[in-house]
Amino acid sequence: MSTDKVQIFDTTLRDGEQVPGCKLDTHQKLVIAERLDNLGVDVIEAGFPVSSPGDFNSVREIAKIVKNATVCGLTRAVKKDIEVAAEALKGAKRPRIHTGIGTSDSHIKYKFRSNQEEILKRTFEAVAYAKTFVEDVEFYAEDAGRTNNEYLARVCEAAIRAGATVLNIPDTTGYCLPEEYGAKIKYLRENVKGIEKAILSCHCHNDLGLATANSIAGVVNGARQIECTINGIGERAGNTALEEVVMILKQHPYLNLDTGINTRLLYDTSRMVSEKMGMVVQPNKAVVGANAFAHSSGIHQDGMIKNKETYEIMDPAEVGVSDSAIVLTARSGRAALAYRSKKVGYELTKVQLDVVYKEFLIVADSKKEVKDEDIHQIMKTTNSGAQAVA
Ligand code: KIV
Ligand code: ZN
Repeated sequence: MSTDKVQIFDTTLRDGEQVPGCKLDTHQKLVIAERLDNLGVDVIEAGFPVSSPGDFNSVREIAKIVKNATVCGLTRAVKKDIEVAAEALKGAKRPRIHTGIGTSDSHIKYKFRSNQEEILKRTFEAVAYAKTFVEDVEFYAEDAGRTNNEYLARVCEAAIRAGATVLNIPDTTGYCLPEEYGAKIKYLRENVKGIEKAILSCHCHNDLGLATANSIAGVVNGARQIECTINGIGERAGNTALEEVVMILKQHPYLNLDTGINTRLLYDTSRMVSEKMGMVVQPNKAVVGANAFAHSSGIHQDGMIKNKETYEIMDPAEVGVSDSAIVLTARSGRAALAYRSKKVGYELTKVQLDVVYKEFLIVADSKKEVKDEDIHQIMKTTNSGAQAVA
């Protein structure tokens, strides 16, 4: 069976930058955009050009420097937005306008004080207008997660008739269950007339911690683009984390879905975005967290020392982490202590290890983590006869 390409649409610089306190200046955005291009993302959503002169300028400068990826600008289904985005994207090798409108009952009723027929008309007009500027037009049906599937199919048909190349199906509020979101994508694939002319895209928010699972359910059911951000940053609880979906598809080759991302740059990219945005990566964050490859309980450490396969489902080097870590705590066993002692230069006999381990437990109970300098001190205190060999 041949492998299908899943396009990676990175929105760190748009949805990610909407996070309070994460605002970047143009220079910082350029550095990140360049890195995303090297990482191998297919699309960089560079900003929302009409939102401010600063964002317009950032999109324009990013459009000029990106070599490989498509550069995209967000708009509402509003003529002025589309004109401004088209202007900002002029210098791009591959420009894309991302336009759209809310389609759920609550968006139509409360946000637009409108009705379904009017929204269908605005969908068609916005895409058709964007097509007068660029060939590549993506349409988003905001709050598609809570939009009735039959109506959503009609919206998608209107967008396709107007020339949309990509249909974005956002779970804007992060409400869907994976089964439900997957079924939505399947429904659209099977019921939208002309669907073969467009790519279905997943844009999932993480309000209930399901963004990654929903995006994977989407591609398993036929979507071929995932919208995501580095470290999963984004509105409220964030977006789908790029590093998670990329590694899920890589570690499950039988899905026959590939992203083409240079995964060895993931860790560095995560740190770079975290540092520039001042947004700490939680230590237990999947794939790029400080503890993602750290083992601290005795049972796990013993297994890891015997064979890494026992507790690691991916090689840390594949995501750019130099090595797994055996962290010494009061839950660590003799195997871990012997392993770490050897790393700092002490080859312990079984008898010596017994002596040292007793003292180790006393030290470990008094602090969160036993470091290399503590090991040297323990060797001195116990007078175990262990000789530093290094
Ligand atoms: O979450 C969302 O619906 C969005 C759209 C603007 C694409 O970010
Ligand atoms: Zn979003």
